[in-house]
Amino acid sequence: MYHLSLHGSNTDSDIYIGSGIFSQTAKHIAEKFQPTRIHIVTDSNVAPLYLEQLRAEFPIGVTTTVIPAGEEYKTLDTVAGIYADLSEAELTRSDLVIALGGGVVGDITGFTAATYLRGIHVCQIPTTLLAQVDSSVGGKTGVDLPQGKNLVGAFYQPELVIIDTDILTSLPEHIFNDGMAEVIKYGCIANPDILNMIAQPDFKSNMQHIVYECVRIKRDVVQQDEHDTGLRMILNFGHTIGHGAEKVGHFTELTHGQAVAIGMVQAAKLGAKLGETDYTQQITEICQAHELPTQLPYPIEEVYAAMLHDKKRAGDSINMILIHPMGKANIHKIPLEQLHTLLTAE
Ligand SMILES: NC(=O)c1ccc[n+]([C@@H]2O[C@H](COP(=O)([O-])OP(=O)(O)OC[C@H]3O[C@@H](n4cnc5c(N)ncnc54)[C@H](O)[C@@H]3O)[C@@H](O)[C@H]2O)c1
Ligand SMILES: [Zn+2]
Repeated sequence: MYHLSLHGSNTDSDIYIGSGIFSQTAKHIAEKFQPTRIHIVTDSNVAPLYLEQLRAEFPIGVTTTVIPAGEEYKTLDTVAGIYADLSEAELTRSDLVIALGGGVVGDITGFTAATYLRGIHVCQIPTTLLAQVDSSVGGKTGVDLPQGKNLVGAFYQPELVIIDTDILTSLPEHIFNDGMAEVIKYGCIANPDILNMIAQPDFKSNMQHIVYECVRIKRDVVQQDEHDTGLRMILNFGHTIGHGAEKVGHFTELTHGQAVAIGMVQAAKLGAKLGETDYTQQITEICQAHELPTQLPYPIEEVYAAMLHDKKRAGDSINMILIHPMGKANIHKIPLEQLHTLLTAE
């Protein structure tokens, strides 16, 4: 088992990563808190798989909210429903909420915990690969609005994150592969060893080490830039063009991981056009090996137009994350006009 700590502004996060550690959740909780009540939030897919096992670990009364699975439920209405359940269960600020699920459950529950009674204890138990390597660590929480994704939220570090890589075995293959796009991202921006590890035919037997290396990178970046004003931007490698593509596909035609894979290949092409080493072929092959698409399915002009609304746009330029050498990310502020010329040039 691995342990990492993250010193956040609201609390210190203890992050445990290992195989089979789900069954030690109650022990880790008892080391940190003395809650008299625990409330678990999970979704309709994860509940039948893991909820009873988790609930049975605790000697005290546990209440639950099971939300319908899916991004479309990442809303303020869902948060309001959880507030009502917390209130009915009479949770106080010394009690604990547990998020058991993927990034959707994690983001909703984190936001609920950040705001209920102005902040109660929260433990994340991420059950998708994306949630394990990305969303459960770093304290970004929030929900979507009809106007757009993740428009309401808070920075709120979970006190405890329990990452059991055995839980990934129940994930459908395509959801696992989606998370692999983020794993590849970490390899490109900070540690090429990750790329070597996932190139092994039996890499799935090494997931606890792979996930640990990814979380360590995220921890280090968040530690230096918790509130996303500078360095944290490097975690967006593949995401600027990727978000543009996701948007053109109305967030339904491409999954997030697919869009990130395409975005990383496009960013590699852009780097080559700017005279950096060309990693297009290497990143393409890695993504393909994990059944991720690498070709932009839309005209680049449409994707560029969608990118103009990106949060990472800074006035007349966009900050693009480029890789050089492999394993090192660099922030390039590129004027929009130049970016347009580069993207549309063959
Ligand atoms: N807070 C952050 O820093 C951050 C970072 C990246 C993404 N996100 C957010 O994360 C969300 C995406 O998360 P996701 O990809 O985990 O999606 P998700 O939470 O929708 O999970 C994907 C699907 O897998 C199911 N599932 C989860 N765990 C399972 C398991 N172990 N076995 C079987 N099925 C399981 C879920 O029920 C769901 O149907 C988005 O809303 C995104 O905005 C947040
Ligand atoms: Zn992502």
